[in-house]
Amino acid sequence: MYKRSLTSILEALTTPHRIDRYLELVHPMLAVRELRAEVVGVRREAGSVTLKLRPGRRWSGFAAGQYVQIGVVVDGVRHTRCYSPVDSQHRRDGHIELTVRAHPEGLVSQHLYRTAAPGLVLDLKPADGVFRLPEPRPERTLLISGGSGITPVLSMLRTLLDEGYPGQVAFLHYARDLEHVPHRAELARLAERPNLSWALAFPRKTPAVRENAGAGRNPESWATLEGRFGLAHLEAIAPWFAQAQTYLCGPPGLQESARELFARLRIGDRLHTEEFTPASFAAAGPAAGRVRFTGSGIEVDNSGAGLLEQAEAAGLSPAHGCRMGICMSCTAVKTSGCTRNLRTGELDSDPDRHIQICINAPVGDVAVQI
Ligand SMILES: Cc1cc2nc3c(=O)[nH]c(=O)nc-3n(C[C@H](O)[C@H](O)[C@H](O)COP(=O)(O)OP(=O)(O)OC[C@H]3O[C@@H](n4cnc5c(N)ncnc54)[C@H](O)[C@@H]3O)c2cc1C
Ligand code: FES
Repeated sequence: MYKRSLTSILEALTTPHRIDRYLELVHPMLAVRELRAEVVGVRREAGSVTLKLRPGRRWSGFAAGQYVQIGVVVDGVRHTRCYSPVDSQHRRDGHIELTVRAHPEGLVSQHLYRTAAPGLVLDLKPADGVFRLPEPRPERTLLISGGSGITPVLSMLRTLLDEGYPGQVAFLHYARDLEHVPHRAELARLAERPNLSWALAFPRKTPAVRENAGAGRNPESWATLEGRFGLAHLEAIAPWFAQAQTYLCGPPGLQESARELFARLRIGDRLHTEEFTPASFAAAGPAAGRVRFTGSGIEVDNSGAGLLEQAEAAGLSPAHGCRMGICMSCTAVKTSGCTRNLRTGELDSDPDRHIQICINAPVGDVAVQI
């Protein structure tokens, strides 16, 4: 017999609105169709804010290294951004923590850094992403991060330690200075683990580093390295790195150096990377034609840039998250014209196609529903 859930029966009664519309009036966390998370703890340190979230019932967990998208309302407008949970995937209390670096010009990160407080309710999307530890776990694991890229890598480290990982693991983190290393106190505690070696590396030498240089380990028990990423750092922290699987998340310069080195040593397939900021895309080619944003009646000359950038330059504010083709939150319907995918160079001339406007640029006349 055909069974209907209580939710769909109630929804039939509340048509034309979904039941969440009414439940939200009582409390946003009561929503049954949409996934939400309530901020239950806030910690500010090292230019970042760490939000402890209690996700709603529909949350099904994450694998270390993956990211979630959160929706945050700033000045009445909802913005979506990606953040990688920083805790172990085996955390027992069902909470997740996100560490958000306050980006100097950043809209959402600054807003959260300045205003986030317990009780704030955020939209949450299920965890996603292929940057994750493999099953079974590798025999040796090297984790490298730079700046805010520490989050997925620290999640991997915590997960491995929770699992009683029997292999060798090394963690190398690049930071501007000591004051910009979030979760420092915990990292110092982790250093006691026998099969873990870890180091903080400072590309620009600071007085604190000079003090500890040569000592090997400082009072907080980490090794310090100076200078930029390179073979010497890997040999210092993980001389076995060529037999390990390496997971790296950090700024484009660090990623490039690591890719070059691993390719030169013919172990490029052992390096797995995640980036938070868009790599520079290929140029879209000669700009010609007009771009019509049909949802808003605005038409502009094609500048050759991606459609998201052109829409923003025209005064529009399309929804977006990662700006690099990962999260799909910028998808819009291209009703006519040809676009070029800036990551792959592929052309697409089919009408009525859902495209990611952050990584597609118009080639000639294009109409898109924005
Ligand atoms: C998979 C993934 C995981 C991530 N995990 C984390 C994490 O754990 N922690 C973390 O701190 N961050 C993480 N990020 C980055 C995060 O999603 C945001 O990008 C970051 O917080 C900045 O958002 P914002 O709104 O503060 O900045 P935005 O306002 O989006 O601006 C960011 C920067 O881009 C510039 N910018 C803004 N608009 C434009 C434009 N039109 N053209 C060119 N430049 C522009 C700004 O000037 C600023 O410098 C992750 C990103 C991805 C893709
Ligand atoms: S903004 Fe994430 S895919 Fe376009």
